Amino acid sequence: MHKKLLIPGPTEVSQEILQEQTHPLIGHRSKEFSQLYEGITNKLAKFFELPADCRPTVTTASGALWFDIVGRSIVKDKALCCVNGAFSERFAEAIRACGKQADCLEVEWGKVPKPDAIAEKLETGKYDTVTVCHNESSTGARSPIREIGKLIRRDYPEVMLTIDSVSAMAGDKTLPTEIGCDIIFASTQKCFALPPGLAVALVNDRALERAQQVPNRGAYTDLVEIFEFEKKHQTPSTPNIPLLYALNKRLDLMLEETYDKIYQRHEDMAEYTRKWAKKHFEMFPEAGYESITVSCIKNTLSKNVKELNEKLAEKGFTIGNGYGKLADKTFRIGHMGEWNLEGIKIVLAAIDEIWKL
Ligand SMILES: Cc1ncc(COP(=O)(O)O)c(C=O)c1O
Repeated sequence: MHKKLLIPGPTEVSQEILQEQTHPLIGHRSKEFSQLYEGITNKLAKFFELPADCRPTVTTASGALWFDIVGRSIVKDKALCCVNGAFSERFAEAIRACGKQADCLEVEWGKVPKPDAIAEKLETGKYDTVTVCHNESSTGARSPIREIGKLIRRDYPEVMLTIDSVSAMAGDKTLPTEIGCDIIFASTQKCFALPPGLAVALVNDRALERAQQVPNRGAYTDLVEIFEFEKKHQTPSTPNIPLLYALNKRLDLMLEETYDKIYQRHEDMAEYTRKWAKKHFEMFPEAGYESITVSCIKNTLSKNVKELNEKLAEKGFTIGNGYGKLADKTFRIGHMGEWNLEGIKIVLAAIDEIWKL
């Protein structure tokens, strides 16, 4: 029996969307492709209310490609990397692997980087780029990206703000105009509820201007080249065409549901899960900064999550265990993409029954 995914990604994908991948293939330099791709970027621009100086792009790779794109094409010398969990740490490591310097603003796991702490570091004038993880999937903490964006745009206009919103975009609020970010990116296997293999990014002109000044941008990671091809509604290399058909359909559904209602649906699922968690356990993240797409719960009752998943499998569900050093201390419920409150209620009731809560 298929076990519906409530892990922090990949998430559940409907048959309707999976079917879209069975379109007969087209050539990626054909007119049909450019029409498909132009339609997708237009829909992304509409959904994320992009102003004229901010453009979407869809790259064939998982979201982590954008760690490298930022490292190669955006960081000139040194980045300030806000590190509050496993994925934000990977962002910093990727920047170093691209041959650039990265200083970490270390924050305890479960907590979030705050604007004041970032300002203190930026005041040194040493950094040309900031990296932030919007939704630390390892800890379930949600960074205050709007406050961080406000600070950077107001006081450090030359600094690029790059945001990993891999597990939040298309669920949580991510309008670039509200955040003031230069690059924000996500993977398709999270809130977009698609198979893995594509990354969606929203990039403004400032970021492109910066990239033009940065040498050795690599090849696949060259932001300037990516946007040269965007002008023709194409991608530099052969993209994952079946998945682009699925994304095209998904965007129709997202536009139909609307940005606000999608956000509210995620908020409702998170609120219900948090209430449930607080009744029996404790939330792991700092209060007020809990993710709305991944609830990370302290396993205060020392319950056996592996055994739970074996029993949940019989009911057709699977949840996530803790990540890395939190493996035994927490468990995680991913409520994103196609999930809704009714579905989450059923899953949590199933856990109540199995754990006799
Ligand atoms: C917050 C965050 N950033 C980055 C990644 C890496 O994304 P991908 O596996 O799509 O490359 C993940 C994956 O789970 C994530 O949750």
